[in-house]
Amino acid sequence: MTTISQASPTTPTVFRLASRLDDIGFSDIVNVRNRIMKLHSQGATVYQFEGGEPYMNTPDFVKEAMARALNENKTRYAPSSGIPELRAAIADKLSTKNDIPAQASDVIILNGGMQGLFGAFQSVVNPGEEVLVFSPYWTPIKDLIAHCQGKTILVPTSEARAEGFERTLSRYVGDRTRAIYYNTPQNPTGVVFTREEARAVSRFAQERDLIVIADEAYEDLVYDGKHCSIASIEGMFERTISVFTLSKSYAMTGWRLGYTVAATKSDMLERNRVAYLQRRNLLLAGFDELGLVCEKPAGAFYAFPDVSRISANSREAAEILLDRAQVATVPGIVFGEHGEGHLRFSFSTSIENIEAGLDSLRRNL
Ligand SMILES: Cc1ncc(COP(=O)(O)O)c(C=O)c1O
Repeated sequence: MTTISQASPTTPTVFRLASRLDDIGFSDIVNVRNRIMKLHSQGATVYQFEGGEPYMNTPDFVKEAMARALNENKTRYAPSSGIPELRAAIADKLSTKNDIPAQASDVIILNGGMQGLFGAFQSVVNPGEEVLVFSPYWTPIKDLIAHCQGKTILVPTSEARAEGFERTLSRYVGDRTRAIYYNTPQNPTGVVFTREEARAVSRFAQERDLIVIADEAYEDLVYDGKHCSIASIEGMFERTISVFTLSKSYAMTGWRLGYTVAATKSDMLERNRVAYLQRRNLLLAGFDELGLVCEKPAGAFYAFPDVSRISANSREAAEILLDRAQVATVPGIVFGEHGEGHLRFSFSTSIENIEAGLDSLRRNL
């Protein structure tokens, strides 16, 4: 059990840290920074290469916009996910520059990339689950994972590059793997993953049903090659939480501004709707082939074909289908007298089931 060190020799603290913080250490990078600050205060000369922020100042146009906002008293609570104009502008940037098919509602504005990463790991990693992290990696990541009571599994970037990403990842993946942390351009090595490498990681993530947490803090600082947002690869937007920050691109480290993008539930609803539509069309095409007249269902997930060709008595028709073709339906009469002569087919089932059922009807009716 960790205990917070005493505030002063005369005021012993009664706080005991929650046990889930047991594996979380003090930042090694901050330790170095504190040491340098101490050396400075003692008048020492230090040639500094330890920092992690742009050497230039925040651009004037940003500072002027902030000054304007302050003068206009824009200092109150904003909508918790960010003002709509900013979310819309970022969605526009994401779709034009990063090829990420984002809508404004998929974007949330945060207090820097770190908050985005914290929220991303907290949102997807359960206690005991593992996260694959290309290594060397940015140190705070292991603490973010530890804070979820998850486990960091290091995947050497050099091994993945030499031997292939899918092959290497499959060596480190396990039953408890939940996500991949994908940072490009990378801190601390400056590695920029190629589009091909992003594709390989994407194939692996899709095959293993893993979430990708993409850290794109350095997207604008690429000297050789081209930045590729992994969420732009087909099938990845719905399984990627992409984290961006204004810290590095705009020299705004102290402003604490960043944003995260991930497909929202509305996209999930739309995906579901499309999946049902596909099943409806498949079933209706099958009815057509069988000579069963069916009004096209505009909603829900039922088709209600006229089966009087098989029997005018819908209970009898349902029996025939079950006996001869092993196809289970509900007689129309149970939905009232106006349903007689019809059968209710639910198309809330797998494509394979619809195909097999239609095939059986074709062969046995
Ligand atoms: C790889 C990486 N991701 C994210 C961040 C977070 O930046 P910030 O919290 O300042 O937006 C940093 C900052 O050093 C970083 O190096």
